[in-house]
Amino acid sequence: MKIVSYSIREDEMPALQNWQKEHPEVEIQIEKELLTPESAKKAQGADGVVVYQQKPYTRETLQALHDAGINKMSLRNVGTDNIDMDAAKELNFQITNVPVYSPNAIAEHAVWLMGRLLRREPEYSAKIAKRDLRWAPEIGQEMRMQTVGVIGTGHIGQVLIDIVRGFGAKVVCYDIYQNEKLKSEGLYVDSLDELYKQADIITLHVPSVKENIHMVNDDSISKMKDGVIIINASRGDLIDTDALIRGLDSGKIKAAGLDVYEKEVGVFNENWEGKQFPDARLENLLNRKNVIVTPHTAFYTETAVKNMIEIAHNSNVQLINGETPKNLVNLG
Ligand code: COI
Repeated sequence: MKIVSYSIREDEMPALQNWQKEHPEVEIQIEKELLTPESAKKAQGADGVVVYQQKPYTRETLQALHDAGINKMSLRNVGTDNIDMDAAKELNFQITNVPVYSPNAIAEHAVWLMGRLLRREPEYSAKIAKRDLRWAPEIGQEMRMQTVGVIGTGHIGQVLIDIVRGFGAKVVCYDIYQNEKLKSEGLYVDSLDELYKQADIITLHVPSVKENIHMVNDDSISKMKDGVIIINASRGDLIDTDALIRGLDSGKIKAAGLDVYEKEVGVFNENWEGKQFPDARLENLLNRKNVIVTPHTAFYTETAVKNMIEIAHNSNVQLINGETPKNLVNLG
């Protein structure tokens, strides 16, 4: 059995080498480049591919894989929003993702963003860098005094709720799929509007499906509390960036913690030292002391990376063996 693993990073190599040791029956061909119509040709003769990239898996790319005799593809990440699902269905692709690689990685990161903003860390860091060690005026706030509004109560949302409740925060949450335990504890509100009304901090943990795109916009922001803090460690397009900037300018939004950004593809995980960003709005956000931008690193922990490698390769083996993995992405 042969699997081609595309866009393998150096930091993924130890986990991949371990996996390979445990699966000597599988031949792994490592490709450092992204999966493109051109690089897909390198999969000729293999049985499946393991991939991760944020750039689109276009019809052309899927067709090229199909022409190379491959229709079994395992993503090393959770999001499937960059796949041309119509093409995948027409070409009979079987695709798996890694729905749960480490909810804690993302949930903890979102909570760190909240904590850093509540304790005015970016402002202190800027002052300290200038040798100014005075306290005022950056007085902080405590987590236990906050109502945290959690939008999306899947694996990540649930871990986040446990963490912030550990700090003593009040939680309200909203999801179209309600979790029985959270429901029995009375944590759900009936509408997003109600959550906007109550929450001091709003954190997004929903996928980028079309109903959710730009869910944070001028209208929803106007319904939020004055001085709300917004955290997004999910998908950049959940927030209308122009509306976010307007909200920050007016003071309606006190602070924002963003691990994702609408136009991050091709920008995050690149070195821009001495160069201009292609998007002035990112520069605008990065220059604010009440905004923290992290370059989609919430997922990036040793535990998560190891799980992504292992689960994706195990799933690809299952597909090749004709099994139906639980994490088969629904193409129906
Ligand atoms: C995902 O798993 O979909 C993520 O957002 C993390 C990715 C950058 C590897």
